[in-house]
Amino acid sequence: MTNTYLEELKSIIESRLALIQPNETLIQESKGSLEIPTLLKIALKNEMEATIVGAKWVGNTPETFCKLVFAKQVGDEAKHYRLIEDRLKDLGVDLINFDPLAPDLSPLTKHLLSLKTTIEKAAGGPFARESIAVVKNEQFLNLLDERGDIETENLYRNTIQKDEAYHKQLGETLLKKLIKTKEDFLLAKQAIDSTLDLAEELTKQAAEKKGIVNAPGC
Ligand SMILES: [Fe+2]
Ligand SMILES: [Fe+2]
Repeated sequence: MTNTYLEELKSIIESRLALIQPNETLIQESKGSLEIPTLLKIALKNEMEATIVGAKWVGNTPETFCKLVFAKQVGDEAKHYRLIEDRLKDLGVDLINFDPLAPDLSPLTKHLLSLKTTIEKAAGGPFARESIAVVKNEQFLNLLDERGDIETENLYRNTIQKDEAYHKQLGETLLKKLIKTKEDFLLAKQAIDSTLDLAEELTKQAAEKKGIVNAPGC
């Protein structure tokens, strides 16, 4: 892959990530209404679904170097699940009857599971989804700072956010190896665009219909 292709994909991501952020009015309206445990339960769902997507891809992706990246991600997302679960228990939240996959897989997870080629998986998964995660976690960290939840902030800043940034980096590494032609580039671009389209729409819906803003990603 020429550097031009990767640079172009990176600039597409960067220019669109701003749209993942909820608008100021909604943030103001939602202030104080969303408790940290509620947002951490959304995080549990995200982490479990990211684990499932990665695990499926370890099994159905032919290239060994890609299997290893997806496997690394699976281990990290499962670790995040455990750490967030522990934090929720410390906050006194009862998770005995909590099912992270109820009532259904999210539309974003279904979309990722529908991607067929390795290039699309690398582009939609580690590259696009993890780029979104880094932005969402940054917003979540700001909220934690505002609320003075230092324990959760340390967990995100010192462990989870570092891993998600690394996953994004792994996505770039995969695309660099996988994209050899203009057709490959266009396939990657299409997977990135469709993943971001959906993420933008879901962020908007979550804010407007459920008042959920600043939820962490993964
Ligand atoms: Fe991740
Ligand atoms: Fe994660």
